[in-house]
Amino acid sequence: MRKNIVAGNWKMNNDLSETEELLGHLKLQMVKEPEATVMVAPSFTNLYPTFQALKNTPVIVAAQNMHESDKGAFTGEISASMLKSVGVNTVIIGHSERRAHFNETNEILAKKVDKAVENEMTAIFCFGEELEDRNNGSHFDLVEKQLKESLFHLAEGAWDNIILAYEPVWAIGTGETASPEQAQEMHKHVRELLAKNVSSKVAENTSILYGGSVKPNNAKEIFAKEDVDGGLIGGASLNAVDFTEIINSF
Ligand code: G3P
Repeated sequence: MRKNIVAGNWKMNNDLSETEELLGHLKLQMVKEPEATVMVAPSFTNLYPTFQALKNTPVIVAAQNMHESDKGAFTGEISASMLKSVGVNTVIIGHSERRAHFNETNEILAKKVDKAVENEMTAIFCFGEELEDRNNGSHFDLVEKQLKESLFHLAEGAWDNIILAYEPVWAIGTGETASPEQAQEMHKHVRELLAKNVSSKVAENTSILYGGSVKPNNAKEIFAKEDVDGGLIGGASLNAVDFTEIINSF
């Protein structure tokens, strides 16, 4: 069901003590019941401590990735069952940094999504164009290809497990945030693609988050857009005050 969500992608930041410190600050900041569903995605080594620290709070713990296989000779990888065994039932799939640095293709990501759905997990599926795509006007086609090749095979019921995250690569970590109008334009386009290729029910019920240099001073205007349901936050989520301000931006 469509809902307002703010998820913090902590990326490769914070050892165990830094994670515990950030969680302590976050608990102090989150004095009022948030209007949004809140998620944090620490690194693998910090998942269980974070799950334990947050289990009596409404905050959901997510992983930043998982492998598409159940088990086997995949040194350094983590499986769905391993995540579920430490209380993690939500996972980010297809972040642009994994597509770029680890050659995660749309085909591989489709298998990761299938594995998440098979394990009744929630997948935060990331997609978005490079600056070159936007500059030559191919960003809508690029996004359609990413969604078609990784998601449009899913049965309608599987979409209950899917959260979409539009992250224009040129806005990630750059301070070059997409304008609220640019975000709304792409989110509207994606919702139209969902209606055309899946169903109007899925188009209406799927949460679409925006990610890419969301900060306390721009979150409210972005989140106010009709087809934006919240944000996937990188840098600002590593600061408890900023992250809480973003959470309260609806
Ligand atoms: O997954 C969210 C991330 O890519 C956005 O990063 O630092 O631009 O908020 P940032």
